[in-house]
Amino acid sequence: MKQGVNIAVLASGKGSNAEQICHYFMLHPNIHVRLIVSNKPEAGVLKVADHYTVEKVVIPNSRLEADLLPVLMSADIDFVVLAGFLRVIPADVVKTYTGKMVNIHPALLPAYGGKGMYGRLVHQAVIDAGETKSGITIHFVTEEYDKGDIIFQQSCEIEPSDTPDRLAEKIHQLEHRHYPVVIENLIRNTYL
Ligand code: GRF
Repeated sequence: MKQGVNIAVLASGKGSNAEQICHYFMLHPNIHVRLIVSNKPEAGVLKVADHYTVEKVVIPNSRLEADLLPVLMSADIDFVVLAGFLRVIPADVVKTYTGKMVNIHPALLPAYGGKGMYGRLVHQAVIDAGETKSGITIHFVTEEYDKGDIIFQQSCEIEPSDTPDRLAEKIHQLEHRHYPVVIENLIRNTYL
């Protein structure tokens, strides 16, 4: 049985999910957020790293292929969490972390996923299609965008008056509530 499991969170943006995850595991006896990686030097998620005194690393897109795996290895990372990381993950990282790397998507996959489907564009597409429900999907990461096995989904209603921004708020609430718990359960089943 493994004593401690080290998580890395990868994010390109604001980092509200990363923040929830850091907060949730702050006092956890076995699971630790050890590293935050961003491909954007100006990403809000780097402030989250400072706030929670988590090590942070910026890897520009041009260096991801070469540097991401060595960075994860040298921080002794066991489990990788993508939280709004807007870049395809290099093949060597996907291979090394098969079954140990998850992503969250702000819609009910397999609908409204794939390349170019991120952030507000997803919510706009869902509303334009007249859907009455959307939700979140947590899935394993494979080399294809949004195609890995689904681990967890939760839906919410869309009111006729909902704008993409309002829907984004609802989705963020669901993400914040469920992502840390799903990660904890997965790690527990995998390692502890
Ligand atoms: C989330 O909505 C997530 O589903 C998507 O990117 C967004 C990241 O938001 N993959 P934040 O940076 O965690 O606030």
